[in-house]
Amino acid sequence: MYLIFVLIFTVVVLLMDLYFFRSIKYVSRNLKPRAQQIIKISYWSITAFVFLFLLVAASYFITKTPPPKFARTYLMGFILIVTVCKIIGSVFLLLFDLFRAILFIINKSIYRKVEPSASKSAISRAEFLKKAALITAAIPFGTMIYGVLKSAFDYTIHRIDLEISNLPTSFKGLKIVQLSDIHTGSFMTDSPLQEVVDIVNKENPDLIFFTGDLVNEISEEAIPFISVLSQLKAKHGIFSILGNHDYGDYFYAQEDKIGKAHNYDLMKKIHQKMGWNLLLNDSSIIQKGEDKLAILGVENWGDKGRFPKYGDIDKAKENCSPTDIKLLLSHDPSHWEAKVLPTHSDIAITFSGHTHGMQFGIEIPGFKWSPSQYIYDQWAGLYRKNKQQIYVNRGIGFLGYPGRVGILPEISVFTLA
Ligand SMILES: [Fe+2]
Ligand SMILES: [Fe+2]
Repeated sequence: MYLIFVLIFTVVVLLMDLYFFRSIKYVSRNLKPRAQQIIKISYWSITAFVFLFLLVAASYFITKTPPPKFARTYLMGFILIVTVCKIIGSVFLLLFDLFRAILFIINKSIYRKVEPSASKSAISRAEFLKKAALITAAIPFGTMIYGVLKSAFDYTIHRIDLEISNLPTSFKGLKIVQLSDIHTGSFMTDSPLQEVVDIVNKENPDLIFFTGDLVNEISEEAIPFISVLSQLKAKHGIFSILGNHDYGDYFYAQEDKIGKAHNYDLMKKIHQKMGWNLLLNDSSIIQKGEDKLAILGVENWGDKGRFPKYGDIDKAKENCSPTDIKLLLSHDPSHWEAKVLPTHSDIAITFSGHTHGMQFGIEIPGFKWSPSQYIYDQWAGLYRKNKQQIYVNRGIGFLGYPGRVGILPEISVFTLA
């Protein structure tokens, strides 16, 4: 299956590279021959590098040894950026080649006898569009590189006054910080996460929620970050859950029960070592005098794609009384419409993550867009249906594309009202 994918990818990329190179050749045609040669060599070197890297990465499927972290994160990211930009430029080029062909046919039939140069000039008018194709590819390239170097670490606080009906007075003003989708496997050093920890601790929160995806593939990825993440402090504790990436499902074969059990046990130990209360279909009660606030945490439950459905809200509720105000941590927001709304009207608010807002979109006051919205009805921010609410955190880390464009990494700070 992988080999077929690599073969198709190779043919498509080579064809696209040949096609896109015409644009590069055209734009650089007035440069000195030496400069033209350097451009040509650089262009094809990138293509050769992409194939070489994919070849090395393919050995992973034989040796089961993943490529080094930097290669997996940033070299793969670079390949992704270059490919996306070439696709955008090539689509643009293709559209205008079609336009040029149509012009050629029309001009040839209409002007052939009147003005022989007309078709030529119409065609040359379209030639400049090759330049435009290059610019069309260069803009997303610049934006995506900026997203890697700057936006990926541009930690942004979202402050939300959270109204919860029947909230006992003793809990009004309670400050909760939510973090989600740290994806430690994508971080080269712990300094960005130290910055996150410092921002959170400065808020002096009463509670911290972590809503899953601590790692990308295996629990071991989190070990170098235990010391930095264990510095997080909250008066009433830190409560966490697992996300779809925390089960080893993307590393161990489906039938490898031993590997997955090891991953699960290590993940639990890591949460424990960090001082986080991992809720696996379980709850914890925060009590102030007679008043109680129930924090429920479920294992991953996803309604989209092939995500696992381990979450069990009924089990999580077992130690709660019907009158407790209930806050639910559930990684995947699709859980809310599929299970929480139809059968658990006593859950006041659900805290989720998972979407990352696709790490790409536009967010300006009064307007919010991301391709994520075509997959998830609730993909970033606060949503309400009747008296129930869900908050979807945009995530702190990144996965796949090692950056963010428009949808910045989020630290949510809630004040209960
Ligand atoms: Fe995630
Ligand atoms: Fe996830």
